[in-house]
Amino acid sequence: MGISHVAPHVMVGPVRGHSSSGLLLSTSPFTLTSRIHGRNKKKGHPVHLRACSKRMVQNCPKVCGIISSYRAADSVKCQCQRVEGFGEITTEDGNGKWGREAVSKASQILGDVNAQTVIGLDKGSTSNDEKSVHAGAPKHAPKKRRGNSVEDEAWRLLRESVVYYCGSPVGTIAANDQSDGNLLNYDQVFIRDFIPSGIAFLLKGEYDIVRNFILHTLQLQSWEKTMDCHSPGQGLMPASFKVRTVPLDGDDSATEEVLDPDFGEAAIGRVAPVDSGLWWIILLRAYGKCSGDLSVQERIDVQTGIKMILKLCLADGFDMFPTLLVTDGSCMIDRRMGIHGHPLEIQALFYSALLCAREMLAPEDGSADLIRALNNRLIALSFHIREYYWIDMRKLNEIYRYKTEEYSYDAVNKFNIYPDQIPPWLVEWMPDKGGYFIGNLQPAHMDFRFFSLGNLWSVISSLATTHQSHAILDLFEGKWSDLVADMPLKICHPALEGQEWRIITGSDPKNTPWSYHNGGSWPTLLWQLTVACIKMNRPEIAARAIKVAERRIAEDKWPEYYDTKQARFIGKQARLYQTWSIAGFLVAKLLLDKPDAARSLWNEEDVEIINAWNVMVDTKPRKRGRKVLKKTYII
Ligand code: GLC
Repeated sequence: MGISHVAPHVMVGPVRGHSSSGLLLSTSPFTLTSRIHGRNKKKGHPVHLRACSKRMVQNCPKVCGIISSYRAADSVKCQCQRVEGFGEITTEDGNGKWGREAVSKASQILGDVNAQTVIGLDKGSTSNDEKSVHAGAPKHAPKKRRGNSVEDEAWRLLRESVVYYCGSPVGTIAANDQSDGNLLNYDQVFIRDFIPSGIAFLLKGEYDIVRNFILHTLQLQSWEKTMDCHSPGQGLMPASFKVRTVPLDGDDSATEEVLDPDFGEAAIGRVAPVDSGLWWIILLRAYGKCSGDLSVQERIDVQTGIKMILKLCLADGFDMFPTLLVTDGSCMIDRRMGIHGHPLEIQALFYSALLCAREMLAPEDGSADLIRALNNRLIALSFHIREYYWIDMRKLNEIYRYKTEEYSYDAVNKFNIYPDQIPPWLVEWMPDKGGYFIGNLQPAHMDFRFFSLGNLWSVISSLATTHQSHAILDLFEGKWSDLVADMPLKICHPALEGQEWRIITGSDPKNTPWSYHNGGSWPTLLWQLTVACIKMNRPEIAARAIKVAERRIAEDKWPEYYDTKQARFIGKQARLYQTWSIAGFLVAKLLLDKPDAARSLWNEEDVEIINAWNVMVDTKPRKRGRKVLKKTYII
């Protein structure tokens, strides 16, 4: 399918022609040296802006949005820019048809579990103390918890994790564990890790950091990054970035700050961060919804960034499925864990990002092909996941009785799954009430493991039907001691053990059974559970899980993950003061307190998709040469 060529980020400013906020100002000596180089097709040469050093800060113009050349330094230099036109913004009030029942129900529950109110700084205010944390890792060790408010401590720690670039907050570091001598890349701002931080700030009415994050990471979007002479696709967002202070070219007396991205070319295992761009789109939409400021998503460079991500994801390949084909470790689980192929987490984020992007893309002639491709993909993707990834007792029994080796267009067992693949643990584990999406589906292979993030995000994005969404939450309730136990939430269940662990993980000592990605428990997942529960009007489930976390998470110093089947131990190699554990907890608390706000984070089910889906279900089985759809959906 043809997708129109996407122009690189050559200009900034709202698409609809406002000039006050966001257009490049060319009044200073540090402005554009070249304006539209970037039209160059595949290997775009982005627009250059002279960097301004720390020495120059005083003179820095208020320039909004800059692109730096990756040719020279593979990094974005500090332009000390400020983002224009960002005055008071009112938070969008929750309104409309969203279930008020959910809100009042959550408020009732809060009476029990959320007695302490969240106390933070005033909107937009940042103390001098906080501002002293600059350029990369914060300098202060986490202070001792004061008083008895876990949230107070969480807010303080979250603020201490903020990373500044030329004086502006641009993200949060992954972990602020001063006791750890081997930080690896935990002193970087990870795109995925920042999502709960960003949402916590949005819910608090502090929008600048999120806006800065969105615009700066946009400038890092892949142009010319290479690994061993190979470049990742244009549009790829980095896994993480770091603010570095480097000597200014040709001047020993001055330094400048640069943003140095990692696209996986330095990451352990050289994994490609497929989820980064998807999360970026999701956060961009949440920013607009929470702040009411749509000027960011309307900017031409932001629109171009969205299109580049979409173009990369929607590109034709050899694959037969509408799901995204990715390598192992391309998402939250960023190590080898047997999730190559079509892992659920990526599909749920992909679906959500497509919906969010469609909401934000400015209607213009040049985008018609892209929007058509996007719509087709949404329909095909939802059909594929709902039909083929779903299992419950009924479906499991169906698989158990599958005939194999069916060569025909209307095969029941389309992927030639051998019933012997049903693992013994699942026969015991599958509850009568409830169900879930399996982790992965390939020809002759179903990965029956339960992955929390993929399932929760399927609920949040409405990739799951209403019935399936409730069944997933039923499963959480029914399997509480496996999925929540002593600390929410299991990243996946069950763990790989023995020979399977050896073969699939490559004997990874960090991913031993019931540890880290292999059946470990990750407190950050609490916020996703909370959004899903509020969406389905079942906030009491989240409230119960938050209560479990609250018992020990602060005492344990906010670990990255927990080990053992019951999540009894702090993870063997877990970082302490892990930012997304802190932020995930805060978001969960804030949302239970104001459930209406969760609406900015989920996607409503799309009527077009429901209609198309019904047509597809009605016209099954699909015969060769038969016209299936009345509408012109290409699948
Ligand atoms: C681990 C996690 C990854 C996270 C990173 C930084 O590698 O697997 O999801 O982004 O740590 O916290």
